[in-house]
Parts: sequence; structure tokens; C-alpha cells
Amino acid sequence: MATTLESLLQENRDADLLRFTTAGSVDDGKSTLIGRLLHDSKAIYDDQLAAIQKDSRKLNREEVDLALLTDGLKSEREQGITIDVAYRYFSTPRRRFIIADTPGHVQYTRNMATGASTANLAIILIDARNGVLTQSKRHGFIASLLGIPHILVAINKMDLVDYSEATYERIREEYANFAAKLGFRDLAFIPISALRGDNVVHPSSHMPWYKGVSLITHLETVHIAGDRNLIDLRFPVQYVNRPNLDFRGYCGTVASGVLRVGDEIMALPSGKTTRVKSIVTFDGPLAYAFPPQSVTVCLEGELDVSRGDVLVHPRNQPHVEREVEAMLVWMDETPFELGKPYWIKHLTQTVRGTFAELVYRVDPNELHREKTDCLELNEVGRVTLELFRPIMCDEYARNRATGSFIVIDPASNRTVGAGMIIERTGRRTAAVHAAAPMSRNITTDASLVSPQSRAAILRQRPATLWLTGLSGSGKSTIARNLEVRLLAAGHACCVLDGDNLRQGLNRDLGFSPDDRAENIRRVAEVARLFNDSGLIVITAFISPYRADRDQARQIIGPDAFLEVFVDASLAVCEKRDPKGHYAKARAGTIESFTGVSAPYESPEKPDLVLPTATLSVDDVVDRLMVELTRRGFLSPSHPAS
Ligand code: ADX
Repeated sequence: MATTLESLLQENRDADLLRFTTAGSVDDGKSTLIGRLLHDSKAIYDDQLAAIQKDSRKLNREEVDLALLTDGLKSEREQGITIDVAYRYFSTPRRRFIIADTPGHVQYTRNMATGASTANLAIILIDARNGVLTQSKRHGFIASLLGIPHILVAINKMDLVDYSEATYERIREEYANFAAKLGFRDLAFIPISALRGDNVVHPSSHMPWYKGVSLITHLETVHIAGDRNLIDLRFPVQYVNRPNLDFRGYCGTVASGVLRVGDEIMALPSGKTTRVKSIVTFDGPLAYAFPPQSVTVCLEGELDVSRGDVLVHPRNQPHVEREVEAMLVWMDETPFELGKPYWIKHLTQTVRGTFAELVYRVDPNELHREKTDCLELNEVGRVTLELFRPIMCDEYARNRATGSFIVIDPASNRTVGAGMIIERTGRRTAAVHAAAPMSRNITTDASLVSPQSRAAILRQRPATLWLTGLSGSGKSTIARNLEVRLLAAGHACCVLDGDNLRQGLNRDLGFSPDDRAENIRRVAEVARLFNDSGLIVITAFISPYRADRDQARQIIGPDAFLEVFVDASLAVCEKRDPKGHYAKARAGTIESFTGVSAPYESPEKPDLVLPTATLSVDDVVDRLMVELTRRGFLSPSHPAS
């Protein structure tokens, strides 16, 4: 067994694993190439081969269609929550391989961006008959954005251009000229025929003019040991393993750097430091761990580390940022929207975020910058991203794991974009300032009174009734009347109302999606404090965005949070128009007014729906009291209730 770090790394190097991705459309012969690789390198089993031989006959194909091999794998593909890429493992005596393959029908950019972020190498397929197309350039551009260190351009279907050296040279030169602007460290070209097997595994006798190696030899020998970042330790905690009181381990995958037993480490964002006690794996303890090993880390002493935290070395810390600039690859049919709340998945945490600015879009052909305010499917632009909570990140060029994120649409749950952080902006808006990263020198001071004794004294369990609905739907009226009823029954409660809070605590906030998000965040924090002191809180805010309400639920805690939909149609609210706001919004004197010129996203699964067009205020309050009692928030033995 290896004892020194060097020999451990060496051991790992010998067992090298190459992750590669293929870019190209079905027509470029991608499936056939992978089938050919697996077949000629004897990486497929006899039964699989027999099955595709049978299928090929069934489909009346003249020869065995190797594309059926990868197509047949679609059902087997690994389904991550957000990542839709098929992985295929194979090995030769010299190396192990993982292909992040991309089913033909799914958009290529999406596949490249999600499958390629950990790839060492990208194969860009070009059909020799078509030459360099915009799409081939786009693949190269995205591969460069993703920082894939090695690019292999496979010029395919050479059999259909009579194995012509002139054709190959023309395409090679054109692509090399284009790629020069992208600054790849390693760019190679190979003429192949995936269908006929030329230069895929076996060198071709049809192209004696080609003096290079075959595609598999290139894959086996390309030097990848230096691709990993072994300098900056980043260990994002995936989950906390606490099977009994004597053991507490933090599980995760080393994203970069080397973690050693005895190292002084810092947990972010708390900034607390301690030492690594042990590193545990399924196969026994380790002295060191490095990427991409998955391990469980035990620390000395009692340190409160939770999921989403990152362990680092105190002298080498990532940035803790609420605003970043990034290159964004848009991957959805629905165009990118400035100001819209999205979920941003970064390392092991998912945070709400909005794009505040689209600085420019990049034209993939000429690599020019274009001024625009929209990104469509497969387009790439430079953006400013504002985050609801700080993330611990590095520039992508320095660290591919901590420098990348994916964008998820909260409504559809689809992955709609992939981003690469390019630099910190250092700018701060008022809202950003209010939610700036917490200072490292802050600790939590716990109450001396337990929640249980508080509940026993007050004879209630604290809760937040979160009323959401259009302006004029009746939120404030309900809140005030419920407050009266609860107090009359001897319960301690309070109301937080949009109009009131916006005169004090939230007076710096307007009605942009960002400001509303910050409004809701602060309200949720206040509600939580009041809940902690035992009170029942009733909030009356439009809170039009689902993502913001979800975040409020997280801040307050799902057990204490009741989402109450105060349901009245726009027509009804507009007719009521208690403050004359709708009239002004229609006349254009109030901007971004919910329901008129700004969206309202109805709750999908509210805890309670109150149709105020048909129920009286008393009925509504009755229902709320019943609901609170039913859920055990109000103690039935209370003398006054
Ligand atoms: S929220 O969207 O951030 O939840 P909040 O409930 O605090 O809004 O404030 C809504 C109140 O602000 C409304 O009742 C209305 O009186 C007032 N208001 C002023 N401008 C707007 C606007 N553009 N959209 C909605 N409400 C507005």
C-alpha cells in the first residue's frame, strides 16, 4: 500500500481514467463511432453483439449497425435530477474510459454543457462531406468555455470522400484557424470512417498519407495527469452521516486539492477551524484524499457543519459571493429572462438567483460580442448573476468544480442553462448589501429557554401563517381579524403586513423581482425570530414568486410554515380596488403592478385555499382557527380557547 502522497497520486495516475464527451449530431455518425469504439476494442459483450446483429437483420440493414448499440443504451442511461446524459464505461489494457454520451434527439449544447463539465477530452465530429459548419464551431467554442483541456477533431465519413487527403487537409486547416482564437492547449485531428472502422481502433490502409495514431491510441495516450487541480482544497459537504452519538462524518466528493489527516481546515461559511481526525471510505481509512474520491471526513472536536458547507484550508479560501459574472450557455426552448427568479445549483447547494444583466452575447462563428437583451436556445452570453444566499466559488478557469453552476427553471424543474464564473464584480446594490455574506466572526447564541417550555407556558406551538395573493385579495383584512380572534382566545400572535414593513425595515425596497425577493427574505427572517420567541405570526404579503415563498418556507422551517392562498381573481380584486392602485396601474402611473404588469405565481400545493369572493371574513377566520387547532398549534386545553 502506498504511504506517501506522491506514491498515492502515482498509483492513481497509473489507473488513469479518461472522461470524454462526443459532440456532433446523429448525422455526423456519433452513435456509430461509439459503437465502433466499443466493438473494435472488444469492450462489448457477446450477448450485446448478438442482440444488435439480430436487430440489424430485423431492420434489413446490410451490415451490423453499431449505432444500435448506443441507441439501445438509452433506456439504461443514468437519470440524474437535472442531468440528462448517458454514461458508458469501457476499458482497454492501457486506460479506463467514461463516455458522457448524448442521445441524438436532445439538443447538443445542453448535452455538451452538462456532460462535459468534468470531461478531460471532447471529440468534435465533422462530416467530411459537409466540412466545417457553424455547429462544429459552436461545439469548439463551448468546449473552450467549459475548459475541456484536450480537443480531438475527428473528420468522419472519409470513405464517402474517397479517403481524399486534400479534403481532410482543407477541413483541418479551416478548423485549426478558427480554433486558434479559442486558445486550446491541445488540439488534434484524425481522419476516420466510423462506419468502416478506419483509424478508430485499427489504423487504416485506405489513408496511407495519414501518419498519426488511431483514435483509440490517442485516447489511451493523451496526457491527463496534470488536468486536475490538486492545489486548492474544496470539499463540499453532501450530507452529514451521524449513525450514533459517537460518530459524525461529513460525506462528499473532493472537488479539488488534497485533504490530509491532521490538516487544519476551515468550514465555510461559518469560518470555524479545526483539524481532520480521519478520512473514512468503504475500503478502510485513508491518509489522503484527492479528486474525484468520495470520502467521509471526521473532524476533531464539535464543529457544526451542515450540508452545503465547504471545507477548505484556512490559507486558501474561495470567494464567498452574492454576485458573480459568468459565461452562460442557454439550453432551453424558453428564452433566458433578465430579472426572473431561477434556481442555481452550485456544488451541493441550490440557491435562488436572478440574472441582473446580460453584458453581451457571443456569435459562435466569428466570436464577436453582440449587444442584446435575450439569449435563445444554444446561445452563449456574459451575465451578471445575483444570488439570494452567498456561494463559495472560484473562477472557472482555476477550478471547474467550484466555478460552475447550472440553472434550473423553478416552474418546470428543467435544467435551462450552464454557467462558468469568470470573475467577481465587487459591486453591491442595496438589496445585495442587505443579504451580504455573513461575517466569519459571528456565532450563534442559543436561548436558555427551550422551545418546549416556551410552548408549555404560552400553550401554543409557534407557526407562521403565510398569506399570499393579489393586491386587494383580502390578505390584510384576514390577518387583522385573525389576530383579534387569536388574542381573544388568549394566544400570543402578531401581524407582519407588506404596506407597514415597507415603511420601515424594508423602505429601501421597490417592486422589482429582486427587491420583492429581498422583501420576502427579510420578512421570513423576522417571522422566524418571532416564532423562536413563541409567537404565532400572520404575514400579509403579495409574495408573487413561488421561489421566494419556497425560500421563506426554508428559512422559517417547513413544520412551522403554512402557505395560505388568499384566492380572488384579478377581476374581483380589480373591482374592489381598495387603494385605487389597479386604476393607476392600468393608467400606467404605477409600474410593475402585480396582476397587471408583473406576474403572480399561484401556489401549487398551498396548505389552505381561501376563496374570498364567496366566503365572509368570519368564515375565513373560522377556517383558519380550525386549521391551526387541527394541526396542533393551539393547545385545546387552553382555558380561554
Ligand atoms: S411583495 O410583492 O413584495 O410581496 P408587498 O406585499 O410587500 O409586495 O407590498 C404590496 C403592497 O405595496 C400593495 O398592497 C400595494 O399597496 C403596494 N404597491 C405599490 N406598488 C406596487 C406594485 N408595483 N405592485 C404591487 N404592490 C404595490
